[in-house]
Amino acid sequence: MAPLKVGVLISGRGSNLLALLEACATPGFPATIALVVSNRTDAGGLAHAARFGVPTAVVPHRDHADRESFDRAVSAALEAAGVELVCLAGFMRIFSPWFPTRWADRIINIHPSLLPSFKGMHVQQQAIASGVRVSGATVHFVTNDLDGGPIVAQAAVPVHPDDSVETLSARILKAEHDLYPLVLRWFGERRVRLAAANRVVIDGVAADAAVLWRP
Ligand code: GRF
Repeated sequence: MAPLKVGVLISGRGSNLLALLEACATPGFPATIALVVSNRTDAGGLAHAARFGVPTAVVPHRDHADRESFDRAVSAALEAAGVELVCLAGFMRIFSPWFPTRWADRIINIHPSLLPSFKGMHVQQQAIASGVRVSGATVHFVTNDLDGGPIVAQAAVPVHPDDSVETLSARILKAEHDLYPLVLRWFGERRVRLAAANRVVIDGVAADAAVLWRP
């Protein structure tokens, strides 16, 4: 089967993008990154893509009068590159309803909490303030319900009593770098299916393998 063509959307440093680039460079990996799109010219992740010889496109959101016109420009770039799956990796724009509909069931995101806890911004601060003992990362389908799409896989990490936002963020980020490539492998192997009632099934993978524990 031909490797799945992936488009990665970024806005910043791109450490998750780097993890995906490294995975895709592994011999036999079932996915390839066809295009990296950034809404910011200064996104650090663009340099990672260049280093791996992956094409990039910058679509500045300020060049567009409204969200949907920006979304359509990003989508056109992805289509031109033949993208089959969109991976959001630190992409800091909220879509118009048009984009998740256009890419329905073919767009995923990584979020630094165990959803549905702690949606939106400053989630590590939210986790610390809430007193939870465990947090982590979630890969989920993107829908028009912000951070609310069907959950594909999660990685859990402990929250220590003396954690700062920085120490917890670093621990979660490390887990993200394992989780996102694993999930991309499953997509490349065409194992991921949306079943009834918003449940995600990973064919041939035991249900508990969709959870990475990092105590
Ligand atoms: C990650 O924590 C990711 O979960 C969130 O944004 C951050 C992006 O970091 N959506 P990076 O740009 O991949 O380093």
